[in-house]
Amino acid sequence: MRQGESHVIFRVLRLVTLLKRFKRKTGCYLLNQKRSLADNSAYLSFSHSEFPMKSDLYSTYAKKYDLAIQDNVYNAHLERPSLQAMLGDLMGLDVLDLGCGSGIYAEYLKQQSAQKITCIDIAEEMIAIVQAKMGDRVTAYAQDLSLGLPGEANESADVVVCPLVIHYLENLEDFFCEVNRVLKPGGYIVFSTHHPFADFECSLSGNYYERELINDVWDTVGVPVKVAFYRRSLTEITRAITGNGLVIEALSEGAVSEKAQAICPETYNYLSRNPNFIFLKCCKPMVSQKKI
Ligand SMILES: C[S@@+](CC[C@H](N)C(=O)[O-])C[C@H]1O[C@@H](n2cnc3c(N)ncnc32)[C@H](O)[C@@H]1O
Repeated sequence: MRQGESHVIFRVLRLVTLLKRFKRKTGCYLLNQKRSLADNSAYLSFSHSEFPMKSDLYSTYAKKYDLAIQDNVYNAHLERPSLQAMLGDLMGLDVLDLGCGSGIYAEYLKQQSAQKITCIDIAEEMIAIVQAKMGDRVTAYAQDLSLGLPGEANESADVVVCPLVIHYLENLEDFFCEVNRVLKPGGYIVFSTHHPFADFECSLSGNYYERELINDVWDTVGVPVKVAFYRRSLTEITRAITGNGLVIEALSEGAVSEKAQAICPETYNYLSRNPNFIFLKCCKPMVSQKKI
């Protein structure tokens, strides 16, 4: 195959993938707003370099994002109830909220009587929202998780929550090594991420086992915003966990709440039949299992 031909095939595949995902994720939005997919066709011609890892969705649109996730289907009626179901009693515990976003989990952790809540996010705009909402009831600061957790002491956290963040990190080995370092023995992490099965529909390589950087366009805040994330196999995720001394205690594919039916029946029906996220609870054993 000549180079020009493979380029055309690559562009067509990318167009089909983006259209499929955009149509599914915007179904209700488009119906409500009476917009057509054609309005968004400009977004299908972005080049690779136009999708930075730090998305505008969590900086420029941070306030809109905070509003959008309060009662939407994917976050409020699928992700949060599914992840929260994996958390144990938090009363009096020290909790780290990694990739805290606008602090919706911090509010929940406070309601659950966590003693110390530390919120960390790469986006200064998100940290500002958390500080405005929570004041001195939490500690919140900006930190790129791909550079570790230099501000957190060894064995300082009882629980780590990390909802919908790890797909923005290229190196999960380093991430889970840091999680192991900051967790107290007997502590645990609960996290969610894109379901590897769902993300495989974005694959351009066609190789499920190969990690891929995916450029996508999401309408979470009512306008299309570019987002880049890593698609990876379940094997890569679980190896990074167990290879860094953590033990997988539970894995769930979540369940969309029936309340979502009233918000968007089309999305509710889709999510009732198709997995979108996975949820894992991983413990740090009392006696270290980390390879030396
Ligand atoms: C989908 S949002 C989830 C926010 C929050 N956990 C929630 O469930 O509402 C992903 C968050 O991860 C943050 N994030 C992305 N990459 C990051 C990184 N390398 N280090 C720290 N935070 C990151 C984003 O800024 C964003 O706030």
